[in-house]
Amino acid sequence: HFGQSLKPPVRVAITGAAGQIGYSLIFRVASGEMLGPNQPVILHLIDLPFAMTALNGVAMEIQDCAFPLVQGIVATDNQTVGFKDVNYALLVGAKPRGPGMERGDLLKDNGKIFTETGKYVNDHASRDIKVVVVGNPCNTNCLILANQIKDIPKENFTAMTRLDHNRAQHQLADKLGVHSSDIRKIAIFGNHSPTMVPYIDQMTAKNHKATVDQQWVTQTFIPTVQQRGAEIIKARKLSSAASAGNAAMNHITTWVNGTPEGDYTSMAIPSDGSYGVPKGLIFSFPVTVKNGKYSIVQGLPISPFYQGLLDKTIKELVDERNAVDHLLK
Ligand code: NAD
Ligand code: LMR
Repeated sequence: HFGQSLKPPVRVAITGAAGQIGYSLIFRVASGEMLGPNQPVILHLIDLPFAMTALNGVAMEIQDCAFPLVQGIVATDNQTVGFKDVNYALLVGAKPRGPGMERGDLLKDNGKIFTETGKYVNDHASRDIKVVVVGNPCNTNCLILANQIKDIPKENFTAMTRLDHNRAQHQLADKLGVHSSDIRKIAIFGNHSPTMVPYIDQMTAKNHKATVDQQWVTQTFIPTVQQRGAEIIKARKLSSAASAGNAAMNHITTWVNGTPEGDYTSMAIPSDGSYGVPKGLIFSFPVTVKNGKYSIVQGLPISPFYQGLLDKTIKELVDERNAVDHLLK
């Protein structure tokens, strides 16, 4: 099927391209897994000056794959060049946390990065750019970034909770003895942090309403999903990379191609006030996607148990926003 009815190429920027997520992500994007077998790509690989030698090595490896869909590689530490006419941006470049740290501890260092990147995106990217922020703390980094944007729609700036969604799907499938793809109608609300809220009150398995016992939900399921990132760091001595890159691709693919009928996904997006979430916070909601536009799933019943959890994650994101107030002027 390669070569048949190819679309005009699109430009995909990946920051932190010389890092560990970059190394697992870039080759899959190059292969067509993210945007499909008829969509040629020009890869814009961006990293810091000190990483340019390593990044050139990555660029050589992409060349050596002879990918049919790669129509160009821009490897650079210059963000003017890096974001020029870009249609999709996966913003990974940032410091990861180490053992014992919370993602919020990264706010000061990584917040600055997203102010700067926001300016370059605003000045140079294509006006239809779709952005997913992966670098942590991703919700608030996205808020900082979007604050720099003048004439691109705010809804084009999102952060990634798809990894948490995928993690939840696996835990539930394992518990119910089905495949993870059989689990539908679950979602992550809130922050990509230990306060995230994995919501499963509408869950179906193989298209039937499915329930699991509440004690397992509160004592095992929710903490496992909330702490999975830390668990991986403990095991690998490095933060999740292949699964994070996979989720970033899933996020964009779903944003472009839509959600399946009868299901929704999780994306951290600018709040419109739904579910009592303060407007403008970058908050993960259940969303359906059609024709490249996402909509928040409205009217899901929120039990007092879930409302208590929602209040906590809202408060945490408001606190993070207050902590970076100086970057939001
Ligand atoms: P890494 O240290 O291996 O790579 C990060 C890369 O970013 C490095 O090459 C670094 O030079 C580069 N970089 C730093 N500042 C930059 C800038 N201003 N512009 C361009 N590049 C820059 O880290 P990693 O493991 O790839 O993780 C990257 C980020 O992703 C971390 O913040 C991590 O916490 C986050 N993460 C998020 C999720 C999620 O679910 N949202 C999951 C996993 C990791
Ligand atoms: C994850 O959830 O794996 C990432 O956010 C990395 C981390 O710091 O936990």
